[in-house]
Amino acid sequence: MATHTSENKSNTPGTGTPAAHKGTTAVDNAKVDGNEMKTAPLHKFFVSALKDIYFAENAIIDALEKMQEAATTEELKEAFEDHQLQTKKHVSRLEKVFKLIDETPEQKECKAIKGIIEEGEEIIRSTEEGSMTRDAALIIAAQKVEHYEIATYGGLAQLAITMGHDKAADLLEKTLQEEEDTDYNLTEIAETYINFDAEQED
Ligand SMILES: [Fe+2]
Ligand SMILES: [Fe+2]
Repeated sequence: MATHTSENKSNTPGTGTPAAHKGTTAVDNAKVDGNEMKTAPLHKFFVSALKDIYFAENAIIDALEKMQEAATTEELKEAFEDHQLQTKKHVSRLEKVFKLIDETPEQKECKAIKGIIEEGEEIIRSTEEGSMTRDAALIIAAQKVEHYEIATYGGLAQLAITMGHDKAADLLEKTLQEEEDTDYNLTEIAETYINFDAEQED
């Protein structure tokens, strides 16, 4: 296998020419490696999954805005606002990941997140404004979003490690950690008083 590759490389135009073309040859070899990487099925899947979560993160920014406006308690409003700011960072981190693997950031429609967000909107329509039941339900809707993100970032970070994209993996893991923290935070808010207060409502 290794012999094959070096034979192929020695056949690339310009390789036979001496010193003056040294720099060009190095660049050409890098391009060959890059192109080989880009056509690998796992790389293609990785890029497609990044486009999916890039779409999702952008959609989540808008969804969190609506959830923040709809929430009853200041505590939940603040939690949504804080996570919206984090989500904007997630978008720019993804743009860095695309750059690190020499791909262009593009959004690919993610039907799963659209469905999860639609559920959140349904909760706003079907619960009373100013009620604790609305907050209890909104927390669960938000956690469904977080769990989708946790599954995605967890898997993509592992794939990045496997494919040797260490810097990209670090960025994906950073976002993963923030999604997990948010999920934990939301549970705390629900269990501190929102669920109990909601249970008292008639
Ligand atoms: Fe996110
Ligand atoms: Fe999130």
